[in-house]
Amino acid sequence: MVKVSASILSADFARIAEEIAEVEAAGVDSLHIDVMDGHYVPNITMGPAVVRGITSVATVPCEAHLMITDPGKYAPEFVRAGVSAISFHPEVTRDPFGTLSQIRDLGVAAGVAVNPDSDVASFGEFFAASDFVVVMTVFPGFSGQAFIESALENVRAVARVFDGDIAVDGGVSPRTAGRVAAAGGNVLVAASAIFKQTDRVAAVGALRTAAGSGGN
Ligand code: DX5
Ligand code: ZN
Repeated sequence: MVKVSASILSADFARIAEEIAEVEAAGVDSLHIDVMDGHYVPNITMGPAVVRGITSVATVPCEAHLMITDPGKYAPEFVRAGVSAISFHPEVTRDPFGTLSQIRDLGVAAGVAVNPDSDVASFGEFFAASDFVVVMTVFPGFSGQAFIESALENVRAVARVFDGDIAVDGGVSPRTAGRVAAAGGNVLVAASAIFKQTDRVAAVGALRTAAGSGGN
């Protein structure tokens, strides 16, 4: 049974509390919060103050996906802002293991994120030190991008060596969710496929149904 994580990047931030309540009522398992710094990726989203606002109204667990150049420096602030999991891109830090254990020592789950062009074979030791893995099926930076089919090979590669949750992030929709699940992804992260749909119950249901179909 897959889990669904709503990526709030495509939500209407003028009414974020209602948006969160709607997707929670639609049965999402968690919220995925994309933090971008304008350095690691060419987009800027939100910092700890806004994340605090999100976690204060959420009733499901919140993950911060840090697309920033210095995740270790800011991880404590995001934990204080109320997230229960933090992922980051290991290429950005000289000491990925130190960052993973720092995040765990803060009392939250730690995960590494795999880009479509990451050398997954060289990430094995990071996975062993992670509580979850995020496999990107778009290049990080923006919601609404097209799913990169070849990145499914990264999902399969991670699934061969990693037992924990494998979140798949980017272009996940009812059209792609079946292949994501068949490849071994068990957490569907979706922004557009949830928040750009007027009927959120139908949107979340369509993702689960597509994942259950095992490939399409
Ligand atoms: C991309 C983000 C994703 C993104 C997903 O950098 O990490 O979480 O918001 O958006 P969709 O589901 O629209 O591809
Ligand atoms: Zn993300």
